[in-house]
Amino acid sequence: MTVALHELRAAIDDELEGWLSETLRGAGPIADPIRYAVLAKGKRIRPLLFVGAWEAAGAAAGQGAGNGAGALHRVALGPELVHTYSLIHDDLPCMDDDDLRRGRPTVHVRYGERAAVMTGAALLPLAIRAVAEGAAGLKLPDPVAGRLIGVLTAAAGGDGMVGGQLLDLLAEKKHVGFETLERIHLGKTARLIAACCTMGGVAARASDETVGRLTRFGIAIGLAFQTVDDILDVTGSSTRMGKVGGRDEALGKATTPSVLGLEGARARAEEFGREALGEISPLPGADRLREIGRLVLDRDR
Ligand code: IPE
Ligand code: IPE
Ligand code: MG
Ligand code: MG
Ligand code: MG
Repeated sequence: MTVALHELRAAIDDELEGWLSETLRGAGPIADPIRYAVLAKGKRIRPLLFVGAWEAAGAAAGQGAGNGAGALHRVALGPELVHTYSLIHDDLPCMDDDDLRRGRPTVHVRYGERAAVMTGAALLPLAIRAVAEGAAGLKLPDPVAGRLIGVLTAAAGGDGMVGGQLLDLLAEKKHVGFETLERIHLGKTARLIAACCTMGGVAARASDETVGRLTRFGIAIGLAFQTVDDILDVTGSSTRMGKVGGRDEALGKATTPSVLGLEGARARAEEFGREALGEISPLPGADRLREIGRLVLDRDR
């Protein structure tokens, strides 16, 4: 039986809360800022994409139920923890210098810069641990567990999120073309989003053909995601988004609206969305993934 998206999000939130309580017992003063950052109201798009991809890869609906659902959701925490780490660092004064995130003061505003840097750093090993534990819970063979961790760490690293974030900073106040912009978006955002989708396919033991479709879906929906994020920075409500808008222009960021204009950016997001949905159209169990894809395109936060 498949559950509604909001129920799945609630189940992932429960897993986050329960697992962190257990894992951070005895962790000392780092526990508070970790809980503050992770348990704030994120949209949980990345863990949802992981579960959606797992379903689309044809894992039998019952396979994740009962004891297995907790293990599946634990793997899903991996990308969410990497993502939350990236947000904490993204908001630091030496990066985008933001004061508001997920509707509350950023981690460095609340706990200080030194704690914020350490909190981000602590989330990366926690992410790997969540994937390793979840894979063991799903009784996946070691090489499959290793592949899950390989996909996640490759997307998070210098060739992915971290590298993209540096490119983003280096492009501030510079004139960049669409090709450079796309390289930035691919690195800082789309690689991690694609990793969620690839991991769903890998965890479901899908064929290379299906995993390839999920990965290409993830890249395209990840590029759409960052394009929409750039549009919302211009047009969105700070209250709805839980972060302050207008920051990209203030910082001289290379964004899709700055390169293509707002209308051009909207058209580009639609194009990426169509490309993404086309990739998964042959997969019979892809309803959830399509629903999440539309959410990425139509969101206002
Ligand atoms: C914001 O990500 C950072 C980008 C990659 C654009 P989200 O919009 O997914 O942020 P949360 O997790 O919902 O707070
Ligand atoms: C951030 O992009 C991407 C990562 C955190 C890796 P942005 O800088 O545009 O994200 P927001 O707008 O601050 O959420
Ligand atoms: Mg940034
Ligand atoms: Mg930012
Ligand atoms: Mg942004």
